[in-house]
Amino acid sequence: MRNRVKGFKFLFALLFLVFWIEGCSERKNSEVLVSNTEKGVIAENGMVVSARGEASKIGVEILKKGGNAFDAMIATDLALAVCYPQAGNIGGGGFMVYRKSDGETGSIDYREKAPVEASRDMYLDEDGVPIPDKSRFGGLSVGVPGTIAGLFEIHKKLGSLPFEDLINPSIELAKRGVVVTEMQAGNFNGVKEKIEKVNGEISFIHRVWKPGDTMKLPALARTLERIRDNGRDEFYKGETGELMVQHLQSLGGIITMEDLASYRAIWRDPIESQYHTYKIISMGPPSSGGICLSQLLKSVESFDFKKMKHNGVPYIQLLTESERRVYADRAYFLGDPDFIEIPVETLLSSEYNRKRMQSFSFDSATASSEISHGNIEVVESDQTTHYSIVDAQGNAVAVTTTLNSGYGSKVFVKSAGFFLNNEMDDFSSKVGYPNKYGLVGAEANAIAPEKRMLSSMTPTIIEEEGKLKMVVGSPGGSTIITSVFQNILNVLEYDMGMQESVSSIRFHHQWLPDKIRFEETFDTIHFQALRQKGYHPTIISSLGRVDAILVMEDGRLEAGADPRGDDTAVGY
Ligand code: GLY
Repeated sequence: MRNRVKGFKFLFALLFLVFWIEGCSERKNSEVLVSNTEKGVIAENGMVVSARGEASKIGVEILKKGGNAFDAMIATDLALAVCYPQAGNIGGGGFMVYRKSDGETGSIDYREKAPVEASRDMYLDEDGVPIPDKSRFGGLSVGVPGTIAGLFEIHKKLGSLPFEDLINPSIELAKRGVVVTEMQAGNFNGVKEKIEKVNGEISFIHRVWKPGDTMKLPALARTLERIRDNGRDEFYKGETGELMVQHLQSLGGIITMEDLASYRAIWRDPIESQYHTYKIISMGPPSSGGICLSQLLKSVESFDFKKMKHNGVPYIQLLTESERRVYADRAYFLGDPDFIEIPVETLLSSEYNRKRMQSFSFDSATASSEISHGNIEVVESDQTTHYSIVDAQGNAVAVTTTLNSGYGSKVFVKSAGFFLNNEMDDFSSKVGYPNKYGLVGAEANAIAPEKRMLSSMTPTIIEEEGKLKMVVGSPGGSTIITSVFQNILNVLEYDMGMQESVSSIRFHHQWLPDKIRFEETFDTIHFQALRQKGYHPTIISSLGRVDAILVMEDGRLEAGADPRGDDTAVGY
């Protein structure tokens, strides 16, 4: 009897051990960074989620003062130019998608454009080989900036408060200074050498930074004051423009005052598509974001996610195979719609995307070489920035803005206090040659004077049965589209809350190189199975920084602020 009891005890202990180990692997495999019950900031009225608390707070103060989402957008954008100089900017460009409370939708393109003197082969050496540094650093890598034109255009059409009320908080912030976070101090110290190489020791970055230090930007404050007092033309025709052109030309840049004077932000129809009962409203060309996101959703629409564990092997396969096919299309078909014909209708059709997926089987991977060819490495960058805003009336904006790389071209206009973009690297310098994201371009994205370079920015709004559902977007270069894609599936297919979704671990495939890149916190338990099926899993530190807002069942707003950065939601 005693032996039998001992036997039961042993069996019980064994079972306990088995369940405990299972539980551990279940926990390890929980597939969220923070906790899967985690809720984000919840608000009754309005919300701003951005890369920095200072900017989100400034945006919400504007909402509380009676400003609408567009007023808050302008204030948040300018604040990011002060407190998040790696990507927030007045020397770059971006895209905004909006949905007003009455259901009207729209979008604006204030993407940089190539200067008039730009030419197709400007980054090639005498043997026709691209010189990557030429399109990535210094004067020649800079596109004509669009941000200030965009903000004034948005204000003219959709703003409700005086422009000075929207810019003054950022002027104060630049004077008062910003307390540098640990992440930011590391970022400044890491990039210092590159900035000095381009400009000499003239920028505010030139010192050793510690968390808690205060960054004051008096020259930027003066520039913002001039913009407040003289309007849009201050940047494109006035003193600020002249300071920018002088410094650029001293560094071999080709942007002229004529290039600045002729810059225009452009209102464009957003890309609208249907995913089951949801309307997806996103940015059209010259961003590839909206078309690629819609194609991805169409490619997976007929699959039953209820049968697929989130971040399990079949799920990873399905997303990877749709991404492989869509990024191959991106490389071939997409560019500036004012310069090339894009078969938008076909690319967005369910039939086309279903057909593209017919060659996919859960048994084994489709090799990217079967779709096209190439052997390209990717260098990742998170240095674009996205923010989402919803106001008390239910107006929503999704904005993604960038200098391209962190601190763009590294060109710092000292007398005016800001960095200039290196967006010219988003063109294909040579057909079939990869840019800094490893994205291979075709003729459609070749350089031409005054053309806009192809982007991956994907500011997106989702509507369900005529009502606002979600506002979402991310930085991350080529990985933007797949970060947004996964967050949409997290919420719509896996019923995650917004913070839980944003915190969830992500992965990315982009056709070339033929690798699935998993965030380092991803459980490697599936790698063996994936390898056996012909996939090539690799590890990357992190993917994107998603800042998003979800309208909950009861009408309140839940924010998702990405824990991968200093991102912060402020609501009221
Ligand atoms: N510069 C990154 C993008 O536009 O996608």
